[in-house]
Amino acid sequence: MENRRLVIAVDGPAGAGKSTIAKKVAQKLNIEYIDTGAMYRALTLKVIRSNVEIDNVEEILKIMESTSIEFIDNHIYLDGTRVDEEIRENIINTKVSFIAKIKEVRQMMIKLQRKMAEYTNVIMDGRDIGTVVLPNANYKFFITASVEERAKRRYKELIEKNNENITYEKVLEEIKERDKIDSTRKIAPLKKSPDAYEIDTTNKTIEECVDEIINIIEGR
Ligand code: CDP
Repeated sequence: MENRRLVIAVDGPAGAGKSTIAKKVAQKLNIEYIDTGAMYRALTLKVIRSNVEIDNVEEILKIMESTSIEFIDNHIYLDGTRVDEEIRENIINTKVSFIAKIKEVRQMMIKLQRKMAEYTNVIMDGRDIGTVVLPNANYKFFITASVEERAKRRYKELIEKNNENITYEKVLEEIKERDKIDSTRKIAPLKKSPDAYEIDTTNKTIEECVDEIINIIEGR
């Protein structure tokens, strides 16, 4: 790995554990972590706050033009304000995929993401990182888990954040819906790159998955 930059792409469906795993891999390898889902979430938050309907593409694009999304010290900033917590609200989960399927939105995000990964060693996670954003990544991983397990994890997360009105069945339904939109959209759909290692996290701990990835990268 002498003079070569280390670029790692991680993709997978909602709630598979991508972010948690990618963050830990970044810490262990001492490289940058970029959560591209957070960027789509931040734009969605702004659209909701602006009272614009998610099917009003024209207005969404206007909003996008005057929006700044950046990471500073692993925190996400929307127009200069930190929004780590706000982008994880369940309302965002239910709307983000509609915004993420807009062509112009994806074009802008991809540009930003490539710029973020231009000069540093990086692990980036999302839906289209290995297939579209960073097709030349040195390592690609596709993280999966059964839909029931993913819904269970997301439900637990939401309950811990005091979303008392949510039920497991509702979360399961929302995840299935989001997977469907993400996998069937015309532009950059969620799919495994043929050269990606697949890791099924259903019956594994986070640490086991992190070790599996590190072992592959370090060639053990
Ligand atoms: O954390 P979770 O798995 O629930 O989702 P996320 O990674 O935060 O992504 C939220 C949403 O953003 C996804 O459901 C996609 O609709 C969209 N997304 C995308 O289209 N492309 C990416 N590279 C990352 C996220």
